[in-house]
Amino acid sequence: MSSIDSKLRAFGELVRQGTIVPQPEWAPGRLKVGVDLGTANLVLSVVDAENNPVAGTSWRSTVVRDGIVVDYIGAVHAVRRMKEELEERLGQPLLRAATAIPPGVHPSNAKAIGHVVESADFELAEIVDEPTAAARLLGVQNGAVVDVGGGTTGISVLRDGEVVATFDEPTGGTHMTLVLAGARKISFEDAEAEKLNHGLERDVFSIIRPVADKMGRIVADFLADYPYVDTIHVVGGACSFKDFAAVLVSHTGRRVIKPVEPLLVTPLGIAMYDDGGQA
Ligand SMILES: Nc1ncnc2c1ncn2[C@@H]1O[C@H](COP(=O)(O)OP(=O)(O)OP(=O)(O)O)[C@@H](O)[C@H]1O
Ligand SMILES: [Mg+2]
Repeated sequence: MSSIDSKLRAFGELVRQGTIVPQPEWAPGRLKVGVDLGTANLVLSVVDAENNPVAGTSWRSTVVRDGIVVDYIGAVHAVRRMKEELEERLGQPLLRAATAIPPGVHPSNAKAIGHVVESADFELAEIVDEPTAAARLLGVQNGAVVDVGGGTTGISVLRDGEVVATFDEPTGGTHMTLVLAGARKISFEDAEAEKLNHGLERDVFSIIRPVADKMGRIVADFLADYPYVDTIHVVGGACSFKDFAAVLVSHTGRRVIKPVEPLLVTPLGIAMYDDGGQA
């Protein structure tokens, strides 16, 4: 297993078990924090100065949609409570945080995301774009990172470590759930539960496959201008299906790598952009 995969696996355990990696008391305020305000999930990630995972929490929420804050008070309240939860677990205050937006979000909406973080009593370290944060965690120098989240498919192209292009299209896991709900004539909530039921994965995937195909076409169309991209790193919850990577391969003709814990790549990457207030 690569060191990145083991880092992700460790972070997954911290989030699921609600545990922490104990930190020395002499270093208050040195922890780095990332706030990922996703369409489906809000995630707070904490890493140490060497970017090793320390703690994290993930809440399902619909206060933000595709990088747009649709419930400002709800978003602030949720981030505050998540911050308090981690501070309590760590026995240390969390002072600063970086956050992220999907590529192409209008500057005024990006500002609103920043305001949520500040209103939750964080000093705002930086606002990065989501697939770029994922690329940093994955250490991608050359290639593309595709983040298929709840609301959008985001793409970052990297060449020699530099982000040379980003793109975002509103197709994500939510659209998969809507297609499933329509096909099965059930509510969105029931369809979401069915989608997440591992035992039903094969049947569910055959129904939502057109959405995966659409994501594949979005990525293939965008990457047509970047023939030198030979590897795609796919992250985000919507790529959780076992056969998702194969669909991307079939549309793009490029190599596709899916890390472990694909939902946690972008959140953990965002924390790396907080300089920890060490300046
Ligand atoms: N095991 C799974 N199988 C299928 N879909 C899954 C699975 N786990 C999560 N998802 C889906 O992934 C989506 C959430 O992914 P993620 O947390 O990456 O999105 P987000 O960051 O909240 O959204 P966005 O980045 O688009 O704003 C949801 O639609 C959820 O249903
Ligand atoms: Mg996301």
